[in-house]
Order: sequence, then C-alpha cells, then structure tokens
Amino acid sequence: GGTYLVTGAASGIGRAVAERLRADGHMVIGVDLRDVEVCADLSTPAGRRSAIDAVLTAAGGRLDGAVLAAGLGPAKGHEDVIVAVNLLGVTELLEGVRPALAAAGDAKVVVLGSNSTTTTPFVPRRAVRLLLDGNPDRAVRQIRRRRGLAAPVAYAASKLAVTRWCREHAVADDWAGVGIRMNVIAPGPVLTPLLRAQLDSSTGSQVRSFPVPIRQYGTPQQLADWIVVMLSPSADFLVGSVLTVDGGTDALLRPDGW
Ligand code: NAI
Repeated sequence: GGTYLVTGAASGIGRAVAERLRADGHMVIGVDLRDVEVCADLSTPAGRRSAIDAVLTAAGGRLDGAVLAAGLGPAKGHEDVIVAVNLLGVTELLEGVRPALAAAGDAKVVVLGSNSTTTTPFVPRRAVRLLLDGNPDRAVRQIRRRRGLAAPVAYAASKLAVTRWCREHAVADDWAGVGIRMNVIAPGPVLTPLLRAQLDSSTGSQVRSFPVPIRQYGTPQQLADWIVVMLSPSADFLVGSVLTVDGGTDALLRPDGW
C-alpha cells in the first residue's frame, strides 16, 4: 500500500476518504484538530509548521498522495479563520510536503474546493487577488465590507483563491514537472457536520433554498469514491482540473460556463 496525507480526517469527507484508503490497505496520516495521527491547528502559522514537520516524519520522506479536506464553512465573524484554514491550510501544507510528493514520482493531490466559487454572488475580485498575493489581512478587511454577506463571501473567496492557486501550481515545473498530479474537486452540498451546522443555523432556510436540480444532497462516501479515483493510476493524465460534483447547481446557474 501507499502512504497518504489526509487533512480534515476526523470528520465528513476527509474521514470518509481516510476510511476508504485504509480499507484498501494504505497508510493514512490524518491531520485535524483531534482524533487523528497529527493533531494540529491549521489556522495558525505554528500549527501549520508543526503539521508539516510531523507529516514529513511520519511519511519517511515519501507521500503517494495528499487530500486537503480540512475546512471551515461560512461561520459568521470567523472570516479570518476561514481564510487561514481553507487557503493557507492547503497552500502552506502542500508547499511543505512537496518534496515528499515529488519523491513518489507519480503522486496525486486532491484539494477540496467548492461549487460556491461559481455560485456565490458579490465576491470582490480584489479580495481574491489579495489572497493570492499573500495579503490575507487586507483581503479579510475588504471582505468584511460585505457586512451581512461577509462569511459566505469569505468562504467563496477562500475557495476561489485555493482553486486558482492549485491550477497555477499544478502545471509548474516543480509540480507537474516532477510528476505530481494536482487537481481540485468542487462539491455542492454534501451531508456532513459542516452542512448540518449551516442547515441548523439562522440562515438555514437560505441554505435549503439553494437550488440542487437532482433534489438531494451528496454523501461523504460518494465524494470519497471520486477522490479515490483522482488518487489512482486512472488519474495519471488528470492535471489542473476542477471536477464539479454538485447535483447540477453549477450547470443550472451557469449554463454558459463553458
Ligand atoms: P467537516 O466539518 O465534516 O470536516 C472538516 C474537518 O476539518 C473537521 O474535522 C475539522 O475539525 C477540520 N478542521 C477545521 N478547522 C481546522 C483547523 N483549524 N485545523 C485542523 N483541522 C481543522 O466538513 P466537510 O463537509 O467534510 O468538508 C470537507 C471539505 O469539503 C472542506 O474544505 C469544505 O469546505 C469542503 N466542502 C464541503 C461541502 C459540504 O457541503 N459539506 C461543499 C463544498 C465543499
């Protein structure tokens, strides 16, 4: 079996991926706040540093793949933490473990984006640019001007930035050039504790009215199945793609998206 890093492995999609990989005979190095091999807070620079060090040690210098599923939903007032975990918790971690991924020769990276990137209105382009330019504090100030919409906008902006970061880096000499296949999966609503919290919040009715043409939510297991394919040799020619798995919302709202 191979060795895989899975962040967010304690819950939801990350947990379903970790269970699938272990059942298939692989070793999983889970990173999360609790209940995993590497407990670390990905919202802080020190937490991200300690996670990288612990993962590199546990991996023994070689990673066959990484799934970046740790993330925060659009929690009101937590715009800075949303950006830190959803963006820096992916980009800094991947930069840190890149040598171990390169050592495998054909490693796969799957990053959890979101269909909110294409379905959330009023995301300031400048904030996304600031995030990509390494100015999260200024980006969050910009996002907070959206007032009541700040949390969903922070969420969508963090996912837009992480998706663009992935596509830019996926094709670079030190990623694709050394055999690392990096892709994004962009789910719509998937029934996990993250979605449950949104459905139970004061804005639950808005979440419920989000149009899903197929009229059901996804399950963590369905997402894990797609992710496992994206980690397999079937994905050797998949680089820099964004796979939308969302019950049809993106096609409904953006039929001219292609
Ligand atoms: P979840 O809440 O079930 O799992 C996320 C995990 O990330 C949790 O175990 C949590 O402890 C961990 N995490 C959060 N903050 C952390 C921190 N500071 N340090 C370390 N770990 C931390 O969520 P779910 O639904 O499984 O989401 C997984 C990914 O999929 C996230 O990136 C989410 O944004 C994305 N996604 C989820 C959708 C959904 O409807 N559930 C839709 C689109 C994207």
